[in-house]
Amino acid sequence: MSNSLTIKKKIKDFNKKISVDGDKSISIRWVLFSSLASGVSKAKNLLISEDVLASINAIKKLGIKSVFKNNECYIYGKGLEGYKYKKNITINSQNSGTLGRLLLGLLVNSSYPIKLIGDKSLSKRDFKRISDPLCKFGVKFKLKEKKNLPLTIMGSPNLKPIKYYENKGSAQCKSSVIFGGLRTNGTTIINAKKSRNHTELLCKYLNLPLIVRRKKKYDEIKVKKAKKIKPLNYKIPSDISSSSFFIVLTALLNNSKLTIKNVNINPSRIGLIIILKRMGIKIKFKNIKYYKGEKIADIEVVSPKSIKSINCPSKFNSGAIDEFLIIFLVAAKAKGVSYFKNLGELNQKESPRLKWGAYILNQMGIKTVVNEKSIKIYGNPKLKVNKKIIIKNFLKDHRVFMTCIIAALSFGGEWIIHDKDSIKTSFPNFLKIIQKLN
Ligand code: S3P
Repeated sequence: MSNSLTIKKKIKDFNKKISVDGDKSISIRWVLFSSLASGVSKAKNLLISEDVLASINAIKKLGIKSVFKNNECYIYGKGLEGYKYKKNITINSQNSGTLGRLLLGLLVNSSYPIKLIGDKSLSKRDFKRISDPLCKFGVKFKLKEKKNLPLTIMGSPNLKPIKYYENKGSAQCKSSVIFGGLRTNGTTIINAKKSRNHTELLCKYLNLPLIVRRKKKYDEIKVKKAKKIKPLNYKIPSDISSSSFFIVLTALLNNSKLTIKNVNINPSRIGLIIILKRMGIKIKFKNIKYYKGEKIADIEVVSPKSIKSINCPSKFNSGAIDEFLIIFLVAAKAKGVSYFKNLGELNQKESPRLKWGAYILNQMGIKTVVNEKSIKIYGNPKLKVNKKIIIKNFLKDHRVFMTCIIAALSFGGEWIIHDKDSIKTSFPNFLKIIQKLN
């Protein structure tokens, strides 16, 4: 069966209500916290995607049982010291940076060397950003070319607390060090640039010894050794990053309205909404509620009459870090030139996304000026694509694939987009939801 998708027709206007898959960041964190809990944890609406299944396989390799029953997932934690370390364990993080990086924080006390491998995309990504701080706890690492997978981690029985400045705005780095701190006597202090805070919220809900002091530009986090983790029953809300494709699709059409139900709108994740509102898109949060520290709402979006360009303040970057490819499509239809800066981190993702963003827009006939960190997009409110576009060799980056589908459905042309299977990492139901809208 072909693993590419051809789209030749724009989508018709719609007025629909949909639900998208569970939040990936929270799903992976639920698996990891539950693997160390004392007792059985249960999740509803867990994202069943390759990244999350890789997380379940990882804890299985460490001797922790998990089963699926009636659409629910159960993890049988054996307490903080319940991992079974033995010779020759290899854990495959597949495509998931979140799994690989967070898990290393939990392995700081491993009593045997553990090998971590990943797929082609993950093997190109930077793991020095994790091994550097974890080494300071007393952990030893061997990394390919000092920064990549495969790597081997060898934990220490004598961990020392550390002081760590996280200055990339990376929730993965911050969370990995929090996990290291939860295993270490003494107080680990982290000064972290703002980034998504699901790990901290889960620590708070679980009464773990972690204190956050929010400062203007960064958070000061103090974490101590955890004594016990209680089982974590969790109903995972829908993922705003998955929702973003449909929010943008509605924004790029003329007479459409969409409601996406029960989405996690944690303030550290809503950069897309803030940016799109500034560009003139009408978006409302309805039925706002709180669940275990997370904020959840239905998102309602209506097609705008016109789209304004934006000089995007860098303070919105972290909250929209996974959404820039799709935001660039909105800028392509805006009146005027949009500018997005200080986005070097985009090139650290599943593929170099700044480069891919510019490439996709150029294929559509949109002028861009791009460098390692920023992009200028010369919008065209009358944009129509009339040519054949083939998108391939993008390291199977799920967000490149889904962005191209939205571009094809909104702007027309004939698109042949390779590596359809890439959606399985984060959003297996993506194409089924598109069909519902058609
Ligand atoms: C994630 C953090 C972000 C994000 C990724 C998920 C997380 O990565 O891009 O998709 O769940 O912690 P960085 O921490 O590298 O910014």
